[in-house]
Amino acid sequence: LFPWAQMRLPTTVIPLRYELNLHPNLTSMTFRGSVTISIQAIQATWNIILHSTGHNISRVTFMSAVSSQEKQVEILEYPFHEQIAIVAPEALLEGHNYSLRIEYSANISRSYYGFYGITYTDENREKKYFAATQFEPLAARSAFPCFDEPAFKATFIIRIVRDAQYTALSNMPKKSSVLVEDGLVQDEFAESVKMSTYLVAFIVGEMKNLSQDMNGTLVSVYAVPEKIDQVHHALETTVKLLEFYQNYFEIQYPLKKLDLVAIPDFEAGAMENWGLLTFREETLLYDNNTSSVADRKLVTKIIAHELAHQWFGNLVTMQWWNDLWLNEGFATFMEYFSLEKIFKELSSCEDFLDARFKTMKKDSLNASHPISSSVQSSEQIEEMFDSLSYFKGASLLLMLKTYLSEHVFQHVIILYLHNHSYASTQSDDLWDSFNEVTNGTLDVKKIMKTWTLQKGFPLVTVQRKGKQLFVKQERFFLNMKPEIQPSDASYLWHIPLSYVTDRRNYSEYQLVSLLDEKSGVINLTEEVQWVKVNANMTGYYIVHYADDDWEALIKQLKADPYVLSDKDRANLINNIFELAGLGKVPLRRAFDLIDYLGNETHTAPITEALFQTGLIYNLLEKLGHMDLASRLVSRVFKLLQNQIQQQTWTDEGTPSMRELRSVLLEFACAHNLENCSATAMKLFDSWVASNGTESLPADVMTTVFKVGAKTDKGWTFLLNKYVSMGSEAEKNKILEALASSEDVRRLYWFHLGSYTIQSIVAGSTHLFSTKAHLSEVQAFFENQSEATFQLRCVREALEIIQLNIQWVKKNLQTLRWWL
Ligand code: BES
Ligand code: ZN
Repeated sequence: LFPWAQMRLPTTVIPLRYELNLHPNLTSMTFRGSVTISIQAIQATWNIILHSTGHNISRVTFMSAVSSQEKQVEILEYPFHEQIAIVAPEALLEGHNYSLRIEYSANISRSYYGFYGITYTDENREKKYFAATQFEPLAARSAFPCFDEPAFKATFIIRIVRDAQYTALSNMPKKSSVLVEDGLVQDEFAESVKMSTYLVAFIVGEMKNLSQDMNGTLVSVYAVPEKIDQVHHALETTVKLLEFYQNYFEIQYPLKKLDLVAIPDFEAGAMENWGLLTFREETLLYDNNTSSVADRKLVTKIIAHELAHQWFGNLVTMQWWNDLWLNEGFATFMEYFSLEKIFKELSSCEDFLDARFKTMKKDSLNASHPISSSVQSSEQIEEMFDSLSYFKGASLLLMLKTYLSEHVFQHVIILYLHNHSYASTQSDDLWDSFNEVTNGTLDVKKIMKTWTLQKGFPLVTVQRKGKQLFVKQERFFLNMKPEIQPSDASYLWHIPLSYVTDRRNYSEYQLVSLLDEKSGVINLTEEVQWVKVNANMTGYYIVHYADDDWEALIKQLKADPYVLSDKDRANLINNIFELAGLGKVPLRRAFDLIDYLGNETHTAPITEALFQTGLIYNLLEKLGHMDLASRLVSRVFKLLQNQIQQQTWTDEGTPSMRELRSVLLEFACAHNLENCSATAMKLFDSWVASNGTESLPADVMTTVFKVGAKTDKGWTFLLNKYVSMGSEAEKNKILEALASSEDVRRLYWFHLGSYTIQSIVAGSTHLFSTKAHLSEVQAFFENQSEATFQLRCVREALEIIQLNIQWVKKNLQTLRWWL
């Protein structure tokens, strides 16, 4: 009988050190392994419970430190929890050390999870083998028996046997390479720092690298040999970011080396394994000729994110997956923060703003969850990797940073990281660090619990009467179904409220008050013409104004939009369309607000307006209201006509202007406006005539390809190029174009709950808006497994469709009238 019934391991025994020997065979897709684990008994016990799955265990020996006699022992297995148990030959005594040696063999995984193998064809069309790891969250246990929970930190010594032509990499620098039998080589890596199992990594494959020393840390970027000339950008970026983080956190990066590897086949975007960051090729490699400004941002952001994890996540780790946001929210926040500091020209704040819009939309669903919520099963754990953990987490940190000042915020971060280095934390530990610094002046823990333990966010309604601003809060909730409403009354947040007015500009604005009750009053120092609450939208809430206050803002936008910041303009557009969806504001007024767009030159407001009207367009189109849909497009086109006409088909200008160009030309071409498609077609034809060698402006490349893919010949040409192409950036653009007219992807190897499944489910369902579609989608998922039907992304999808149905019911008349 298996002596343990729970998912979580007992804490009676902890691992101190692993010695892991691996001998993979990349062609037979199998490996042999042995692991010696030094353990310590925290309490007296007979049982040692740890994780292992998919292993053929041939031999287990047990040794106590004192007698140092090896005894062979039996193991018990409990596959359902992926656990094994060893009943020790003697009672383990409190405080004593023992060791366990397990010999096993297993298959190399064929998914992208665990220790997995892939094949690819190189530039000479030769078949090549490659093996890599992706352990987070729960797959270290499939590569070697271990205590696979983040709080069980230990050190690791790793040895890998490989063929001579391969390079092997792991978290730590290589200590030695020795020839073993049959011309094979064994690499041994230095003993690691104390770390969690999910951060262990190793890679075997043919690679080249480019390196640079940065104050005693050797930074290297690896890729398959033929792509080595695409690593320069990553290397330069990493060195700059590493320096920034070491200074900002006041803690040195602790390892002697830092490798970044572009893996030919990888499921996530990237992974922060300590000292061995793994990436998709497209998220690390940068090709001067075919990478767009969006690609450059992506590479820079992802490096910034994974590097931030070396502190947030690796050095200080969440105790359990319920607090995943401590890892991902922080890394995401630091990603935008560091870019803003050292790559200001990339205007990453625009992306952050956009991410907040999208996150709040998701967070307003009933299927949302608090960012700290309890998790048990492996699906639940995987589901935590959703945009809420990432972006709500990051948004709350932004709100807090703005509220407390940048200086105080940094001070807290440094304190928190120092206090918990090489250990693990819960959300409360972070709030304690804040409270230590604010020292009784502010209870940050109390404030922040209202944001991390409740799902959703507040709608703040503002009404101005003379010099007084009456404010009240309620839960912002898209779903108006009466049966869900009453429970919402109990929601209350502690909201840092900020505002700007025609009398108070941005450099002076400071937060006026903390709204910690259902309603309150803010006294303005003088009469003003308008007030915009939630300056630059650094707060995680939506604002609704009384009629006159909306009017005053709309009037100001029409008279001179630039009195308000571009973030505030985008924020107003976002809020008013979201409120219109809720029925709080007539849709007509939302359209009235964007009437000023003819004078708009900035990226964020235009992007948001195109997004919001694009959603409406998609609903109409799916419903078959083609007349209305095309009238909507002409309406929007009239507003943006000037800006569209000014665009050139080049890569000129600042990154922000270049992104605006991509968005505008894509809009124009998608709807056959102006001569857009004709120009794109000309560019495409001449690109085809050059057999794809001529260089196209990278920022409009996707648009050009999409237009080209509309003809059969164009589509086939693109497909052939896709197969033979060397630049991932270009391949991606082609793929997008291919998918825009046809989509044949093999999906079966993605595991349930994964990131990938979430986006496939959301992407393929979010535009349905009829009862018939709703039943169809529901029936589809019901016919899968129960676990599938229970996935959060499935519940979200069903809710989104219901909301779409409501939206159409409520607003179709208005649209008819307005258009
Ligand atoms: N730790 C994650 C990778 C990950 C994602 C592991 C999902 C397990 C499940 C990594 O730090 C990450 O967040 N990667 C992102 C990229 C990032 C820039 C948002 C990704 O893979 O999309
Ligand atoms: Zn991350």
